[in-house]
Amino acid sequence: MSNRVNSVSEIRESVDPKLVPQRVLATGAQMPAIGLGTFGSDHVGAEQVAQAVKAAAAMGYRHFDCASVYRNEDRVGESFRQIMAGGIARRELWIASKLWNNKHAESDVIPSCRQSLDDLGLDYLDMYLVHWPFPNFHPPGCDVSSRSPNARPYIHGEFMKTWRQMEKLVDLGLTRHIGTSNMTIPKLELLLRDARIRPAVNEMELHPHFQQPELFDYVRRHGIEPVGYCPIGSPGRPERDRTPEDTVDTEDPAIVRIAQRLGLHPAVVCVKWAVQRGQTPIPFSANPRNALANLRGVVGEPLTAEDMRDIAAIDRHCRLIKGQVFLWKPDQSWEALWDQNGAIET
Ligand SMILES: NC(=O)c1ccc[n+]([C@@H]2O[C@H](COP(=O)([O-])OP(=O)(O)OC[C@H]3O[C@@H](n4cnc5c(N)ncnc54)[C@H](OP(=O)(O)O)[C@@H]3O)[C@@H](O)[C@H]2O)c1
Repeated sequence: MSNRVNSVSEIRESVDPKLVPQRVLATGAQMPAIGLGTFGSDHVGAEQVAQAVKAAAAMGYRHFDCASVYRNEDRVGESFRQIMAGGIARRELWIASKLWNNKHAESDVIPSCRQSLDDLGLDYLDMYLVHWPFPNFHPPGCDVSSRSPNARPYIHGEFMKTWRQMEKLVDLGLTRHIGTSNMTIPKLELLLRDARIRPAVNEMELHPHFQQPELFDYVRRHGIEPVGYCPIGSPGRPERDRTPEDTVDTEDPAIVRIAQRLGLHPAVVCVKWAVQRGQTPIPFSANPRNALANLRGVVGEPLTAEDMRDIAAIDRHCRLIKGQVFLWKPDQSWEALWDQNGAIET
């Protein structure tokens, strides 16, 4: 992957943000159906991510997926300041951030959101998500065998205490919407039963080799927008998130065949499929040429019904972000995090 084009000044082409499809949330708010991820993994530094954000805004991106654990919100915030100084109004942007796992305590939620607002240089967020449904901390950049001694399973009563504070953030005007990430149907069932303010989105892993049809249908049926992370299959993900069984979406013969026919990179086919299927992908790219290709992909010629059928048929049920570092028992398998037998694992 070339990294030749690096600065906003080198981007001569853009997409009119008005052409980008919008998702209408349960509140009536409109969220651009593609966003830029801002997790630089373990190899793209904060400054490079901040430059990518600026370049993306210049080419027409208006939706940005941030998180305190990405450890770059202050630098990304400087880019937002420059973007707005350059004439893009705050209301034209859709900015999400996330509560990290070590800030689930009732007294930590509001200060943590305020810290992200401060770092991002904003008065309000469009979306604030609970990053993981577990309060299980792991040190940044840790290895796959790392476990927190205080790790616990999902405990609904505890999660609701966190959620009540999330609801307060909406009351305080610090965020317009709240949402979840990495949830399962059994956990969402309880949250939807007990929430005063329902999650507007669930951010979840979604790519052609991991389509999660049951959860995807469930959230849509309940008026929750699915935001899809790792839409390209996260080729740059950290070592701790790689196993020998992982498959590669961009090498799938169906994706490659469609890409060749359209003269696009296979990554762009993954992004087009995501938007057309009805999820909101948030691809990361530190390379403006790739970011532009992704944005152009979603406003360009749609995939055919046959392409969509072919991609629907290549689901390999291959979860890439398994979350091993959040496990709470020794010798537990990562499947325990995902309630695969239909009940919450304790
Ligand atoms: N909620 C959660 O728990 C969670 C978990 C994981 C991720 N996320 C969010 O989801 C975002 C996206 O996930 P991700 O970054 O892991 O994976 P991804 O978006 O699937 O993949 C990003 C990688 O794809 C490459 N790429 C992007 N566009 C390309 C193109 N057109 N042609 C060729 N290569 C291309 C990028 O390389 P270049 O930089 O060289 O273009 C980068 O290495 C993250 O940044 C983060 O915001 C959330």
